[in-house]
Amino acid sequence: MSEILLQIDGKEVRAKEGMTVLEAAQSAGISIPTLCHHEKLEPFGGCRLCIVEVEARGWTNIVVSCVYPVAKNLIVRTRSEKVDRIRKMILELLLAHAPDAFELQDLAKAYGADKNRFEKEASFCIHCGLCVRYCAEVKKKHAVGFVDRGIRKEISFIPEIAAKECWNCKECFPLCPTEALQAAFVLTQSLFSPLPSSKSASEE
Ligand code: SF4
Ligand code: FES
Repeated sequence: MSEILLQIDGKEVRAKEGMTVLEAAQSAGISIPTLCHHEKLEPFGGCRLCIVEVEARGWTNIVVSCVYPVAKNLIVRTRSEKVDRIRKMILELLLAHAPDAFELQDLAKAYGADKNRFEKEASFCIHCGLCVRYCAEVKKKHAVGFVDRGIRKEISFIPEIAAKECWNCKECFPLCPTEALQAAFVLTQSLFSPLPSSKSASEE
C-alpha cells in the first residue's frame, strides 16, 4: 500500500492509501471531535461533527473527515472560522435533543455552543447509531435498532434478543454519548419482564 503525504494543521503527515482524513489526523496525534465514529465500526458519517476544511488544487471544501479519504498533497485544517461555526451549530442542534449529555456539554464549552438556541426536543438519542452498529457489526446480535423514521425515529431493544444477549454484554452502554441507550434498556426490562437484570444474572 503506497504512502501518501498530506498536511494537517500545518504538520506534515504520512498516511496509507485508503485511510480517512480522520484516521490520518489521529495517527499524527491531531484531535478532531467525533460523535458517531468508532474504530471497530465501518465509517458512518452521521453526526457531521468531524468536518474539516480541505484544500486541493486551489479549491477549498468542507468535508466529513471520518469518511473522506486522504489524498496526496491535501491540505487539511481541522479548525477554521467556518469549521468552528458549522460545528457550533451542529452541537446546538444536538443539544436540543440531549441538553444534559456530558459529552455534548464539554464540546459546547469548547465551541461556544448555546444549548438554548434551538427549541428543545428532548429525545435524548442523537441518532449517532453507535449502539445499533456496534451490536450488529461487532457483536452480530442485532439486539438494538431504530424504529420509526424522521423526527420520530428512536432507539429500541428487541426484547426477545435482548433477554438472551444483553444482560451479559452491555458493551454498547459506554459508547452512547447520552443517557438514551440505558433508558431504552431499562424500558425494555420493565415492559418485557422477566428480562434478567445484571444483579440477578450475576447471582445465578
Ligand atoms: S441510543 Fe445513544 S448510542 Fe444509540 S444511537 Fe442514540 S445516542 Fe447513539
Ligand atoms: S464522526 Fe464523522 S460524521 Fe460523526
